[in-house]
Amino acid sequence: MDAIEVLKTRRCVRAYTGDAVPRETVEDIIDCAHLAASARNDQPWEFVIVTDREILTKIADLTTSGKFIANASLCVIVLCKDSQYFLEDGCNASQNILLAAHAHGLGACWVAGDKKPYADSVRKMIGAPDGYKLVSLIPIGHPAESPKKEKRPLAEVLHWGKF
Ligand SMILES: Cc1cc2nc3c(=O)[nH]c(=O)nc-3n(C[C@H](O)[C@H](O)[C@H](O)COP(=O)(O)O)c2cc1C
Repeated sequence: MDAIEVLKTRRCVRAYTGDAVPRETVEDIIDCAHLAASARNDQPWEFVIVTDREILTKIADLTTSGKFIANASLCVIVLCKDSQYFLEDGCNASQNILLAAHAHGLGACWVAGDKKPYADSVRKMIGAPDGYKLVSLIPIGHPAESPKKEKRPLAEVLHWGKF
């Protein structure tokens, strides 16, 4: 798949086969994440990979809309050092993770982190130091579904020169 096709065909995948994802693939996905753009090149991000089924289940239980984390092969916890643009930076890295996972033929889904009442509990569970914000939780696995998603037409959202 070329880059444009990856961008256009990525969808959030919430069902996984349970097959393991090789360590090199995970490293490549995080390599893509840590090369994302960041304000002032701050690179405030840290990525914690959780593969332990018990911890995955505990994290899933903490969330309100991420119960499927329990069935993923792994979950990437994206944290950023609290800084002016931590959320934009962390979101950029998170999007790279979704795209890189898709490019590797894997399924992934963004689960909300920042602003959620469980953010501190997740941070503590994985031993994140004070001063780091939870940006997102990204379960990854071999896809067991091919979701379709209704998208607004290009002509509706594209404005030339004026809104
Ligand atoms: C900031 C953000 C938070 C999200 N949080 C959740 C979530 O908590 N649970 C979930 O199942 N999906 C979550 N999603 C995924 C969206 O539901 C999904 O991206 C949207 O429905 C569009 O579908 P697509 O990603 O397949 O194009 C989140 C996405 C973003 C960008």
